[in-house]
Amino acid sequence: MPEPRRGSQDDPATVRMWGGRFRGELDPMVAAFTTSLPFDHRLYRADILGSIAHATMLGRRGIIPADEAERIVGGLREILAEVDAGLLKIAAAEDIHTFVESALRTRLGEAAGRLHTARSRNDQVATDLRIYLKGEIVKIVGRTVALQQVLLSVAEAHPSVLIPGYTHLQRAQPVLLAHHLLAYVWMLGRDVGRFRDAFARIDVLPLGAAALAGTSYPIDPHMVAGLLGFSRVAENSLDATADRDFAAEFVMAAALLMTHLSRLAGEIVLWATAEFGFVELLDTISTGSSIMPQKKNPDAAELIRGKSSRVLGDLVTVVAMLRGLPLAYNSDMQEDKEAVFDAVDTVNASLQVMGILLHGIRVNADRITSSLRGGFMGATEVADALARRGMPFRDAHELVGRLVLYAQERGRELWELSLEEYRQFSPLLDVEIIQATTPAGTAASKRSPGGTAPERVQEQIQAVRETITESLSWLAGLPAIPVERDAAPSAQPSNRRSPER
Ligand code: ARG
Repeated sequence: MPEPRRGSQDDPATVRMWGGRFRGELDPMVAAFTTSLPFDHRLYRADILGSIAHATMLGRRGIIPADEAERIVGGLREILAEVDAGLLKIAAAEDIHTFVESALRTRLGEAAGRLHTARSRNDQVATDLRIYLKGEIVKIVGRTVALQQVLLSVAEAHPSVLIPGYTHLQRAQPVLLAHHLLAYVWMLGRDVGRFRDAFARIDVLPLGAAALAGTSYPIDPHMVAGLLGFSRVAENSLDATADRDFAAEFVMAAALLMTHLSRLAGEIVLWATAEFGFVELLDTISTGSSIMPQKKNPDAAELIRGKSSRVLGDLVTVVAMLRGLPLAYNSDMQEDKEAVFDAVDTVNASLQVMGILLHGIRVNADRITSSLRGGFMGATEVADALARRGMPFRDAHELVGRLVLYAQERGRELWELSLEEYRQFSPLLDVEIIQATTPAGTAASKRSPGGTAPERVQEQIQAVRETITESLSWLAGLPAIPVERDAAPSAQPSNRRSPER
């Protein structure tokens, strides 16, 4: 293999690994435009670990001399340790793959050139991204479950606080605060499920597909899969190198997670207004105004809401990039990375900040309780009772509408009217029904599965705990993901299947 050609010395990004058939230097503008090193440097661990596994396999299969394979693996380990320790700076290459190879060449000379046997950057980059995303999913799932636990603890700290439940942002029917918060816990649980589903499809090794067609070398991708902790090996070399649906799927899961965080953040913003006053944000999670001295702003919550739009944009970027591409690899696919990395960063930060926000919120139960007045949220109870006692529901609806008007004109609640007053509207009404119009009575009657009655909410808490335990045991049962710092590639057999779900 010829020595890599060096581009102009003052533009390190033009160091090339493919100089043989070229005359003249790469234009510096083109070099700067085509380099991915400024962002794909974060794949260095995945790339080096992938190369260690690949070189190990090449040596064991006798595709390259065993002693050279060992030197390559040793050199790669050194590079990894030096980059980890900040001793080796990632620079002066077209992308992370060429950087690692040229760093190896600096150490080993000619022998480094054997690493790229039976491999292309096309299967290499797909492998790197999959290794990277598996590691990120583990982190994101861990953080999402942690957030579920925080929400659960807030719910359990206020077991009997009732809030107005809203539709159209108009007070509708009272619900337990815990019930409202648990709705988000379930949403996050489905987000965990989506990341786990994505993980199962990401957990496939593309290495061995080479540029697009496979390779004539007697490689053993199953061995590589085992070394890298992949459950399966790609079945089609074109598919392996040309698709990024796994990246799109990851970003989709991230976009939906952010959508849920955004809605929760939006409610925090609303609840922290003077008009609502349901919660107070501690000073440690609030920010001020440069002009209005009295202001205390929920910036962090607003930004979680705002940043959800970035991740939706990231999803559009990945899918739009893929949709017109002929098989197999195209350079357009390099554009997946910044979108994926942005989604990773945004989700990780948002999950952590949301956890901090929830710890820094004080529930104003008095204010919430006073908001239960004036909304006539028990009206449906009266209509339901009349219907149960034989009145057609439409007639009952009409009658209770008049009852609400009557109470409203007198500035009283439905539960503050006397039996005599109720009887003026219908002889079917009694004291039991009056009681049922209180917020507690209304909520207690919602005993249907998944309803807001306290005993149903207790059941939900139990059920959600089980899902959390299940997610944690999924995390605990995963083989060590080699991309995590200080974890060497495991020597696990490759016949492991990812967990069923
Ligand atoms: N930097 C490239 C990417 O991110 C790596 C693969 C390049 N392969 C190629 N044949 N140019 O997709």
